[in-house]
Amino acid sequence: MSVRVGAALAHSNIAFSKYWGKREYVGNYPATPSLSMTLDALTTRTKVAFDPALSADRFFLAGAEQTGAPLVRVSGLLDRLRRETETSEFAEVQSSSNFPAAAGLASSASGFAALALAAVSALGLDWDKARVSDLARRSSASAARSLYGGFVELPAGPPEPTARPLSARSVALPSHVDWRLVIAVAGLGPKAVGSTSGMEETRRESPYYRSWLDLAPGLHEELLDALAARDLPRFGSLAEKSAYAMHASAMAAGVVYFNGVTLEVLAKVRELRAGGLTLFATMDAGPQVKVLCEARDAAAIADALRTVLGVRRVVEARPAEGARAIEASEVSS
Ligand code: DP6
Repeated sequence: MSVRVGAALAHSNIAFSKYWGKREYVGNYPATPSLSMTLDALTTRTKVAFDPALSADRFFLAGAEQTGAPLVRVSGLLDRLRRETETSEFAEVQSSSNFPAAAGLASSASGFAALALAAVSALGLDWDKARVSDLARRSSASAARSLYGGFVELPAGPPEPTARPLSARSVALPSHVDWRLVIAVAGLGPKAVGSTSGMEETRRESPYYRSWLDLAPGLHEELLDALAARDLPRFGSLAEKSAYAMHASAMAAGVVYFNGVTLEVLAKVRELRAGGLTLFATMDAGPQVKVLCEARDAAAIADALRTVLGVRRVVEARPAEGARAIEASEVSS
């Protein structure tokens, strides 16, 4: 049999209502619902080639061959797909992103969304987006959201164990609002604790984990409501609340993603707000601060964030379309 090739492009996404914590049964089901925006500025391109001549999967990230945990995670997704489709061939995966991996810029979100779609395309499967989203979720739940564009919701898994599909869904198109996300890069190295282990540590050790789980669904519903009303002040303050509550529960377990620059940027956000600008911060499993604002204020906010000592780079992102299949030649190897 010949080599079967597929390729896909996916954008990363940033959650305003945070997924933090998993159901305690197998299958990577979130314990909280989440709501994100897919971002045009952060892109991953991935090519998958199922090749009968291979004796194991191979994974290249930005041209460098990966072994150990990153390869195991990629093979995990391919294994699930092989089981479902009775395929036995191994694959070579080439992936590259236009932003640093594992630094709290959601590289696993765009990475597993692109991988799932590229692998499904390589096998010529006629799967709908929801099914590809479920496949991506089982590897990294935030990746389920990157299949879709604009604003995207991923529900929590049911409380009782299940093996049923759980996919993300679109709640608003990219054109629904004229909002921007200004990202202040506060550190470039890989994060000390990945989100998977950070969540597990929070669940086991944090005295506030239960409070977080109790708070998250209500916040999520309010965020959906504020989004439908295109109410940035309300949406933004709820998003900040979700981010601070998630981090507070993690910090109480000793899981700290902020660095000194993160705190300086957050102080700048408060200062700009006191000066009359409408802007709100959110942070994930890394030191970066993502600032939500109206499009018309984005340039001034980006300039102000660049003045914070230690900020390495400022990136402006707008709502993007969801993941799509591309030509294999569009992926650099
Ligand atoms: C803080 O999707 O990276 O970015 O499912 O274990 O791969 P796994 O976790 P991951 O967690 C993302 C956590 C977050 C919040 C969010 O994106 O909702």
